[in-house]
Amino acid sequence: MIAIGCDHGGYALKQEIIEHLKDRGLDYKDYGCYSTEAVDYPVYAKAVANAIVSGECEKGILICGTGIGISITANKIKGIRAALCGDCFSAQATREHNDANIVALGARVTGPGLAIKIVDTFLDTPFSNDERHLRRIQMIED
Ligand code: RB5
Repeated sequence: MIAIGCDHGGYALKQEIIEHLKDRGLDYKDYGCYSTEAVDYPVYAKAVANAIVSGECEKGILICGTGIGISITANKIKGIRAALCGDCFSAQATREHNDANIVALGARVTGPGLAIKIVDTFLDTPFSNDERHLRRIQMIED
């Protein structure tokens, strides 16, 4: 199950990504927001992050205007590794090296075509399980 959330700045891109997840037949849960009315991004960042920490969802997608506020907030929650990605190389590397469990996107920065490729890369790239990466991830938590 994929958790997805956004603020008003990310709403339109979230709808495009949801359509893409449906096309791929992937299960998702939409944690809001549900319109372009102004809201506070920490609410949605925490909802998606908590869904992952609780085990309800395995991975998350968060979108705000820049991707910055929503990723900063998600990363405050223990066990969350949210990566703000604007390119596919970063999305691949953060899965292989950081075992990132949330990808964050900036809807005012990254266009929908690239954003969807970033999402696919993030969802389809496994963690390397390399000892050095496991050690470093453990050091984040300690
Ligand atoms: C909302 O205007 C904007 O501040 C938000 O979407 C995000 O970019 C914050 O980091």
